[in-house]
Amino acid sequence: MADIILGIESSCDDTSAAVLRDGWLLSNVLASQEVHKAYGGVIPELASRAHQLNIVPVVSEAVSRAGIALSDITAIAFTRGPGLLGSLLVGTSFAKALSLSLGCPLVEVNHLQGHILAGFVKQYDKPNEVPSFPYLCLLVSGGNSQIVKVNSPLEFEILGQTIDDAVGEAFDKCSKLMGLGYPGGPVIDRLARQGDASRFSFAKPHVPGLDYSFSGVKTSLLYFVRDEMAKDPSFLENNKEDLCASFQKTLIDILMDKLIKAAKQTGIRDIAIGGGVSANSGLRERVVREGEKRGWRTFLPELKFTTDNAAMIAIAGYYHYLNGERSGLDVAPVSRAAEL
Ligand code: KG4
Repeated sequence: MADIILGIESSCDDTSAAVLRDGWLLSNVLASQEVHKAYGGVIPELASRAHQLNIVPVVSEAVSRAGIALSDITAIAFTRGPGLLGSLLVGTSFAKALSLSLGCPLVEVNHLQGHILAGFVKQYDKPNEVPSFPYLCLLVSGGNSQIVKVNSPLEFEILGQTIDDAVGEAFDKCSKLMGLGYPGGPVIDRLARQGDASRFSFAKPHVPGLDYSFSGVKTSLLYFVRDEMAKDPSFLENNKEDLCASFQKTLIDILMDKLIKAAKQTGIRDIAIGGGVSANSGLRERVVREGEKRGWRTFLPELKFTTDNAAMIAIAGYYHYLNGERSGLDVAPVSRAAEL
């Protein structure tokens, strides 16, 4: 009999539900929250309220688009963390209640493992090429910047990670600083395409090993813009494309230097990227270019799988389900990855 997994994701500001049959995608429904744009960042209390409004219609829609009945569900996979506690609580409570009413098992999922495994969701109209284990995944989002050695769908080794800000945070904070809006990544990405990336240079960190640091480059941009604005108040307006292109290139250089080092150290040539920042057009081009130069096989997630979505939670949950892992009804969400 087929294993039908309902995935539920509510870790930040996207409410999502997806259905997989034996790993094949039947539906993936997402309700994004526009309410935060006015505040320039996610407001946790507003996020959890919006999840409460969205969760029932989103799950109903996912089940209906999948063409299944609730009674067909084999197991429910939900994001336990990391994320915003109030947001996670909505998805977790809903998943528990539904599993209790259907009498089906509950499987908790680490959100980051979801991002890493997003490429393993099988789609009927796609080639579905996946990396061989072990492979390296550059996991880049608003909360994380890590190089992960993926030994199997259940075994992950963090080879390096940021010691301060995540790269997505650097995009978001610097966009705010330049008055470009939130979320910063997509705006900087768009403006960078029209700019000259060699025009300005920003300080790069010297962090040993495979760890990252992004707070210094943010400060470097801050002081540079402040000094230039003191000389010419229209500097920002007249140079924003070049600033974005140069800043983005610096972030990509930092990411790639360590990724290349990790590939050399491990001898691994299957390289994937994941997380919100993996949508960045400059990073995607660079990974492909380096891959061609270095004989890597590169795996870029489809754009719809770079943002938070429940299909990636369902696929990660499916592997845990096959491994016999189950969560009890006393399971509670956790805000930090270290607690998982
Ligand atoms: O994975 P994600 O949706 O949420 C978590 O942090 O878990 O990542 C969101 C981050 C934000 O910092 C956003 O600015 C960044 O991903 N982002 C991008 C792009 N699209 C989203 N950063 C750079 N370029 C993009 N095109």
